[in-house]
Amino acid sequence: MAQPGAPTINIGISDEDRAAIAEGLGRLLADTYTLYLTTHNFHWNVTGPMFNTLHEMFMLQYTELWNAIDPIAERIRSLGHPAPGSYGQFGSLSSIADAPATPPKALEMVRILVEGHEAVARTARSVFPTAEQASDEPTADLLTQRLTVHEQAAWMLRSLLEDE
Ligand SMILES: [Fe+2]
Repeated sequence: MAQPGAPTINIGISDEDRAAIAEGLGRLLADTYTLYLTTHNFHWNVTGPMFNTLHEMFMLQYTELWNAIDPIAERIRSLGHPAPGSYGQFGSLSSIADAPATPPKALEMVRILVEGHEAVARTARSVFPTAEQASDEPTADLLTQRLTVHEQAAWMLRSLLEDE
């Protein structure tokens, strides 16, 4: 919802479209933040013969995810809506479950992250029709960038689960 008492916004996108896009971007922010935290968790807790590879790979991935959350939140603000930013809000908005309390085996971590990147890609893709129909090019551009990253990360992680 728009903040009470906020000045009107007229950037050429209707109130309804701005609200719908901001809602979708809020879900994308929650998914991205949750996947960030799970990936950093796995960087800390990974064990086994693939330790070096996965510890490093997870670091690159959580750093990318951390850097991604700010542009998503600030796009929501540019559309005139408050950005969600609490564990409670992220928990109710995210399509991704919290990381397991007991660290899984290394390849189970990889499987969880593949599913996470695929889930974020689905969320980003679900916002596209509204953004395109509203000619919201900045959001469409942001979604395109996020889809590229998540689909590439899912492929790289999935490759670790395949036979040579
Ligand atoms: Fe570290």
